[in-house]
Amino acid sequence: MDPLTNPYTPNAGAEPEAIVGRDDQLASFDLLLARLERGRTEQSMIITGLRGVGKTVLLGQFRRTALSHQWVVVEVEVSKHEDSEFRRRMASKLRAALFELSPRARWTERFRHAAGVLKSFTLTIEPAGAVTAGLDVEAIEGMADHQDLSMDLTDVLVAIGEAAREQGRGVVLLFDEVQFFSKGQLEALIQALHRVVQLALPVTLVGAGLPQIAELAGDAKSYAERLFKFPAIGGLDAVDTSAALDQPARAEGAHYSDKALETAFDVTGGYPYFIQELGYATWTVANGPEIAADDVVAAVPAYEAKLDSSFFRVRLDRATELQTAYLRAMAELGPQPQKAADVAQVMGRTSTNLGPTRAELINMGLLYTPEHGYAAFTVPHFDRFMLRTVPNLVVPELRARRGAR
Ligand SMILES: Nc1ncnc2c1ncn2[C@@H]1O[C@H](COP(=O)(O)OP(=O)(O)O)[C@@H](O)[C@H]1O
Ligand SMILES: [Mg+2]
Repeated sequence: MDPLTNPYTPNAGAEPEAIVGRDDQLASFDLLLARLERGRTEQSMIITGLRGVGKTVLLGQFRRTALSHQWVVVEVEVSKHEDSEFRRRMASKLRAALFELSPRARWTERFRHAAGVLKSFTLTIEPAGAVTAGLDVEAIEGMADHQDLSMDLTDVLVAIGEAAREQGRGVVLLFDEVQFFSKGQLEALIQALHRVVQLALPVTLVGAGLPQIAELAGDAKSYAERLFKFPAIGGLDAVDTSAALDQPARAEGAHYSDKALETAFDVTGGYPYFIQELGYATWTVANGPEIAADDVVAAVPAYEAKLDSSFFRVRLDRATELQTAYLRAMAELGPQPQKAADVAQVMGRTSTNLGPTRAELINMGLLYTPEHGYAAFTVPHFDRFMLRTVPNLVVPELRARRGAR
């Protein structure tokens, strides 16, 4: 069919034509804002899920909702950073939020106070105050300059929350890829938010990340469990998968046969990103207006080739020979979480030998630990990809490690 009208959106974070299966999370977010606006407290959430299930898209919806409530949205895509860089990035985003809450010319004492606290927050890392330039206020001594990330961040969020409340507005921090926070950074955020909640200020934090995040909270774990729900999102069921494929097609005057929808569900396992890729590839081969099971089948090679060369490939490209062998050995055992000892056995090694490799893969975001002693792929269908792309199990000499890429 006409490539010009292809309605599917196979790109990270791309808002799909039909967002299906996320009503619960959208309703929770609505409730969260509505309650905070009334000075009530409500558990916030950290959405967890594998890659490609629609976490970023969901955060995008939250952003929309928040803006329609006149809230200020602070969006951060987290990456691994030293604390100083983390401070710098937070400060620059929060500075923008302050300006959004109220134009400079109309700043009250509370806003000038918040700006001063923000200035203190970055003073230790950049005495010249590059980030806070333009704030044109004096840093406030004794605020956000304790050299302790938790305490400092608490001062900042409280000051901004008070400014927001004065405007009758709120601030929502949307953090994507939260698994890249260091334990200390996440703890600091959780503790700051805890204080904000105690004061019933209109500031909240919603995160999204890979499933191991619930563990990462570390010492702040008991706070984290009170402050957040950790809803897991995953593949769509057969009915939602059908809607995700058929609704966009119908909007363009085409539709799927029942058999075609069944086939598509089998191929994609209901994973949103795979649905978009398969929908896209099928549109290209089908003549329409009815899209038949044969069209879906005919699209599978292009669909797999596309996934192999992009979504899967970018993850493997960064892996060393030994890391690749480890992933391949896991794939040999199947898609489910695997015990370290079992993977080691497939490789003819001990799990102690391979401990560092496993840790590296977790650190890179390729594996996560659903429970102690187990590891699983963060990308759905990664086992199938590994079997396709590395047909034979080859285990490099461990000694070659140092020389490996
Ligand atoms: N609820 C949904 N229904 C249909 N497609 C979706 C849905 N959520 C996301 N998608 C599609 O799935 C893909 C992955 O979404 P994304 O938010 O980037 O996933 P994640 O952040 O979890 O890796 C995108 O192509 C997007 O258009
Ligand atoms: Mg994402």
